Amino acid sequence: MTINVIPSGAPCGATLTGIDLSQPLSDDAITEIRGHWLEHKVVAFPDQVLNPEDLQRIARYFGEIGADPFFGHIEGYPNICAIQRNADEKTSIFAETFHTDWSFMSVPPAATTLYGITIPPCGGDTLFADQTKAYEEMPDDLRERVEDLTAIHSAALGYAPDGAYGDKDQESGRSMQIKPSDKARETCSHPFIRTHRETGKKALFSSAAYIQGFADMTSEASQALLMELYQYQTQERFLYRHQWQARMLVMWDNRSLLHAATGGYDGYDRLLHRITIADSAW
Ligand code: SIN
Repeated sequence: MTINVIPSGAPCGATLTGIDLSQPLSDDAITEIRGHWLEHKVVAFPDQVLNPEDLQRIARYFGEIGADPFFGHIEGYPNICAIQRNADEKTSIFAETFHTDWSFMSVPPAATTLYGITIPPCGGDTLFADQTKAYEEMPDDLRERVEDLTAIHSAALGYAPDGAYGDKDQESGRSMQIKPSDKARETCSHPFIRTHRETGKKALFSSAAYIQGFADMTSEASQALLMELYQYQTQERFLYRHQWQARMLVMWDNRSLLHAATGGYDGYDRLLHRITIADSAW
């Protein structure tokens, strides 16, 4: 088996072909894929016919299956959630703000896999922002201001009962299963600049979507800095725009990327199945 790697040409992202993920993978193949994933941060495997059992098996090659707080799940598979929006739905696009998955956990997930089932003919791309490159190219004065900051993370903005996906949103006809909870108000602190435990590279970790503020800084100063950072972190020069196909599996590295969903597909169904992959340590 020869895995072909087609880099996206953007700062991150590659397509991997020459591999059939519906069949068990050898240790060598897993090691090779892990290397490509760590290098390119987001890898796409087109033309893969996969069922939920396959999706779980593939996720387990790369770590333990992680928890998905605040999501429902597909029937019979408590670890798989449906990222879903129906053709006639008028709800906001889920996850349209750049974020890294569940950064408010004490050990946030290493990876997320997303498998395209129903893909609209237009729109619905996923954007990825390379936060290793963002760190490496950060102007010295901004880097000096953030180098030693501790960020306070929380899911409140999204998943608390008064959050974007809270009680009001539940009444708006969203087809995706989201479970708002007061637990979303809990906080967890992490350094804003994170050293990737596998590559050793530094990256900016998470964004204003989950970061509430910085330790030892007023709320006003934190918010102003978060907005300045968000503008910086999500510049076009750090982005890869991923275009979906049905039967495509994508796996991204939450430790070195931000990602955001996009709309533009009103009138069409969009359905993908998602699994998060836990990390073994911060
Ligand atoms: C997500 O953030 O998990 C969803 C991404 C997408 O729908 O494109």
